[in-house]
Amino acid sequence: MNSLEQLVTQAQADFASAHDAAALENAKAKYLGKTGQITEQMKGLGKLPPEERKVQGAVINAAKEQVEFALNARRDELANAQLQSRLNAEAIDVTLPGRGRGMGGIHPVMRTWQRIEEIFGSIGFDVADGPEIENDWTNFTALNSPENHPARSMQDTFYIEGNDTQGKPLLLRTHTSPMQVRYACMHKPPIKVIAPGRTYRVDSDATHSPMFHQVEGLWIAEDISFADLKGVYLNFVKAFFETDDLQVRFRPSYFPFTEPSAEIDIAFGSGPLKGRWLEVSGAGQVHPTVVRNYGLDPEKYVGFAFGSGLERLTMLRYGINDLRLFYEGDLRFLKQFN
Ligand code: PHE
Repeated sequence: MNSLEQLVTQAQADFASAHDAAALENAKAKYLGKTGQITEQMKGLGKLPPEERKVQGAVINAAKEQVEFALNARRDELANAQLQSRLNAEAIDVTLPGRGRGMGGIHPVMRTWQRIEEIFGSIGFDVADGPEIENDWTNFTALNSPENHPARSMQDTFYIEGNDTQGKPLLLRTHTSPMQVRYACMHKPPIKVIAPGRTYRVDSDATHSPMFHQVEGLWIAEDISFADLKGVYLNFVKAFFETDDLQVRFRPSYFPFTEPSAEIDIAFGSGPLKGRWLEVSGAGQVHPTVVRNYGLDPEKYVGFAFGSGLERLTMLRYGINDLRLFYEGDLRFLKQFN
C-alpha cells in the first residue's frame, strides 16, 4: 500500500470513530484542512517536474475524492443517528391515558348575572350592554346629575385621559344608569330593558370594590307606575332568592334622575338573616327631565328605573361577608360555587 492509500484508509478509520459532528469536523481538518495531510500533498506538487505533476496530481485528487466521500457518508450517518434518537426520545405514546384539563367554573357574581338575565327575560325584559368608558353627558348630565354632585368629584370617579366631543373628560361609568339613556335613545316605547355590567368608583373596603357590578332596570311606557316597580321587583327577589318567605319595603331616598326615589330593602322570613332589613337597590320613577333627555315627551311617557348591585345580591344569596373574596381568585372560595 502506498502512502496515499494508507492516508485514505486512515481517514476512513478516523471518520468512523468520530461519534459526533464536532469530532468529525476535527478529523476532517486533519486531512482536508489548511494544513491537512491531503492539502500538504497538493502543495508538494509544485516541486515536481511538469510531467510527474500531472500524474501525481490525478492520484492525489482521486485520494482526496475518496476522503471526501468517506467524510460525507459519515456526516449523513451521524445526522440520521441523531434524528433517530430524537424520534425515539420524543415519541408520543398514544396509548397513555389523557392528561385531562381542570374543569372551569362560573364565578359567583357571573352566576348572579346569568340568573338576573333569565328572571327578567322570563317577564319580557330585553338585555342591553354598553360601554364602560362613558362621557360626562350620559353618565351624569343627561341623568339630571348637577355639576356639583359628589359622584362627579375626583374622589369618586375614575377619569380617563382624553376628552369627549364636548371637551369634557371621559370616565369609567360610575353606575349602569347611562344605559337608560343609551337604550332609550335607540328604542321606541314601550321600553323594557335590563343592563347588567361593570361599574367603577374610587372606593375599596370589605363592602366596596373599585370595580363592581350593577344591573340597571328600566320600564317606560304610557302607564307604568310605582306599583309596577313594586310588582316587578318583588317577583325578581322571590325568584332570585328562591323563596316566597320574603318582604320588600321602599324607603324614601334621593337620586337626581328619579322622582320620587327609593331604596329597596328586603327582609327574609327565615334563615340566618331572618327579620333584618337589607338594602338591595336604588330605584324610582324616572325624572321628567331624564325622560326628555331620552328624547321622549315626559307628559306622555312615565316609568321606573332601578339599579341593584350584583355583589350585594350574591353576598346575600350565599351568605358571604366580605366582598373582596370575589376578586382574590382563591380557588378554595370559588370552588364552593361549582
Ligand atoms: N344609579 C344608582 C346608583 O348607582 C342606582 C339607581 C338606578 C337609582 C336607577 C335609581 C334608579 O346608586
